[in-house]
Amino acid sequence: MAETNRQLAGIIAELETTGPNMTAGTSTMGGFQTREDFLSEGHRHSQHPALVILKHQLIAAIQDYAKLLFEQECMRNPANVDFMLWGWGVSLKAGNSQDLHVHPTAHISGVYYVSAPPGAMGETSTAGKIRFYDPRPRANMNQLLTQITRVSETPSPGDILIFPSWLEHSVAPFEGEGERTCIAFNVRLNMS
Ligand SMILES: [Fe+2]
Repeated sequence: MAETNRQLAGIIAELETTGPNMTAGTSTMGGFQTREDFLSEGHRHSQHPALVILKHQLIAAIQDYAKLLFEQECMRNPANVDFMLWGWGVSLKAGNSQDLHVHPTAHISGVYYVSAPPGAMGETSTAGKIRFYDPRPRANMNQLLTQITRVSETPSPGDILIFPSWLEHSVAPFEGEGERTCIAFNVRLNMS
């Protein structure tokens, strides 16, 4: 996905230049965020080869995830499923972050990584990483020694992370050069 990522980064950089920046009122602290129509058919870049490739990859991964979700959570597989997908680009520089948040109105959420700064790639630091929190109420109360109640994942370009929309997550700031660019997405399932 290297060439696709280079093109996606270019599209998001262009949108940053032309605006608007949609970070206001969201969990994104600093940085740039596109409108939520980045993956929608009406977007003026919707037929760009990089977006066509990305959407193809996302839909395949979401369908795999949904299959697992139905097996694990539902009493039977639905006869019909409509996937409503929407997404937005987020570009963070040194010092920018995302507060703890969930994705209301969606069932499945995820993130695709376009670029990652060197400062986020270290094994020991949480800088620039996405962190997921144990969803059990009061899971952080009276923790056992070495108990794991939060998990950090390194943003690796080309990776897709998919998770339930109710799962709390945040992104820690990083220091140094580079941009951490991702495309976040939501899926709402209409099932019968
Ligand atoms: Fe998120």
